[in-house]
Formats: sequence, structure tokens, C-alpha cells
Amino acid sequence: MKSLSFPLIISTWDFGAEANRVAWKILMSRENPLDAVEKAINAVEKDPGVTSVGYGGIPNADGFVELDAAIMLGPNHKAGAVAGLKEIATPISVARKVMEKTNSILLVGDEALKFALRNGFKKTNLLTEKAKQEWLKRAEEGIIKRMDSSHDTIGLVLLDSKRDIYAGCSTSGLAMKTPGRVGDSCIIGAGLYVDNEIGGAAATGVGEQIMMFCGSFLVVENMRRGMSPQQACEAAIKRMISKRQKKWVGLIALDKEGQYGAASLGKEFPLAIYCKKGELIQKSKIVHNLPNLGLNMEI
Ligand code: GLY
Repeated sequence: MKSLSFPLIISTWDFGAEANRVAWKILMSRENPLDAVEKAINAVEKDPGVTSVGYGGIPNADGFVELDAAIMLGPNHKAGAVAGLKEIATPISVARKVMEKTNSILLVGDEALKFALRNGFKKTNLLTEKAKQEWLKRAEEGIIKRMDSSHDTIGLVLLDSKRDIYAGCSTSGLAMKTPGRVGDSCIIGAGLYVDNEIGGAAATGVGEQIMMFCGSFLVVENMRRGMSPQQACEAAIKRMISKRQKKWVGLIALDKEGQYGAASLGKEFPLAIYCKKGELIQKSKIVHNLPNLGLNMEI
């Protein structure tokens, strides 16, 4: 997968296409890449049809929607994040405020909510009737186990016209997750990472596995070692498999040259791309299990 143009925006999943469109419009009209990332992700967070992000997101085992999100900027290597945030539909915007208004990176739970309210955010009931009914059905069927196949995080990485790199991530996490469980999407280096000299990456999938390998950081470091974004994503997945960690993970990356790539473990996922030529949806490259890999010590 390649593109040698910029600006360039890549996002996870089909709903990433709408996020990219919003980001592109902002980039073209007011050239504010930070707004572009935030508003793009807001569009997905506010869409009740997306049941794994923001409003309408999948609740935890107790029936509460708990959200994780983070934003990271290349030019000044800054970031903000929130974890386990309830009742606020746009956690990426709270993450941005954490970055801009505090000297912290990550605020959690009730204190993150208080911070959001102090900064003008309004409480919303995030549990839609549809999500509630699905949760009730699972609860009645006695499904108290976390559903690891229910994880469509929005991860977005953007290269602007100055060749600066930005990234954002937002999710309601895995369905029926243990209350208080925090996933990768709000962890800098796991759910997202940017190095303005090299490139950026974001992740979707089972957060524990992504965190155990510092997934997005690993992808960016692979690019630093000379790999293309595609090779860097594949090598990170291979690293996971080499440690016999085979839960589903998807990774996306782009570099300073406007090259991009995506890889996933065992099952593909859609990658939405937006560049001067317009929009495009491609499938991630699948990295299969260990016997097919021809692993070597470089990985
Ligand atoms: N990647 C989202 C999560 O594990 O919660």
C-alpha cells in the first residue's frame, strides 16, 4: 500500500471514511490539523450507528458505557488522554483539553468526568435503547464474558501539508468488559503514537495485546529502522505472533513521505484513506499464524 502525497489521512474501519472526509474538509478550509483530528473523531463518536465508539457505544458488564480516547501531536510531541470516561459523548475533545489545559497526559474515571464538566462539557446518556437491549439480552443469556470480537476503535493518523503528523483514537472498548478496565486506545504508544521525524501509527483490536507490545510505538520504531509503514505494521503483528499472542489486532501507519500501510492478525479490516486523489477504502494485509511466517531474528 503506497501513496506519495500529502496531506494524507488514514483511519481504521469503514466509519473511518466519514472521519477522513470531515478531517479533509477542515484541512482544506482552515488548515488546522488538530481541529481536523478532533472533529473527524467527533463525527464517529456522535454517530449512534457506530456501536463501538462514543454515543451508542457498547456498555461494560454492568451496563455502563465507559470511553477511552487520546490525541497526539507530532510538532511538539504532546498528548492528552482520558480513560473510563462516562456520560460524555466526545472523549477525544476532553483528551484535547487535558493536553491543552493541564500538565497531565491521562485523566481517568470520575475525575476525568469532573474535569470535563468543569471545562464546559455536558452530560449525556450514552446508552442508546439499542445498546441497552443488546446488553440486556447478553445479560439474560448469562454472557458475562468479555466479547473480544467487538472492538472497532476509530484510530486516525494525519500528515498535513507541512508534513507534520497527528493522531487520535477513541473507543467504548470491548463489549461486556470488566467495569474499570482500560484498553489501549488512551495509552500513548499502544493505541496511537506519533514521532514527527518518522511517522505515526494507530491500533484497533484487543487492547491488552496491543498494550503488551506497545503496538503503535513498535510500528513507529520499526519505521525508524527503515521499514515502510506496511512492513512496520506486519513486523509488529509478527512480533505478537512470535510470542504466541494471537488475539485480533489491526494496525495502521503512515510516514513522513506519505506512504501508508495496514496489517492485521488472521482477519482483515478496512482502512479508509483520503488524499488529493480522493477517498479510498482498502483492506489491511493479513498476517497469518506462526507456521506461515518464516520468522527471523530481525522481527
Ligand atoms: N482497542 C480497544 C480496546 O481494547 O478497548
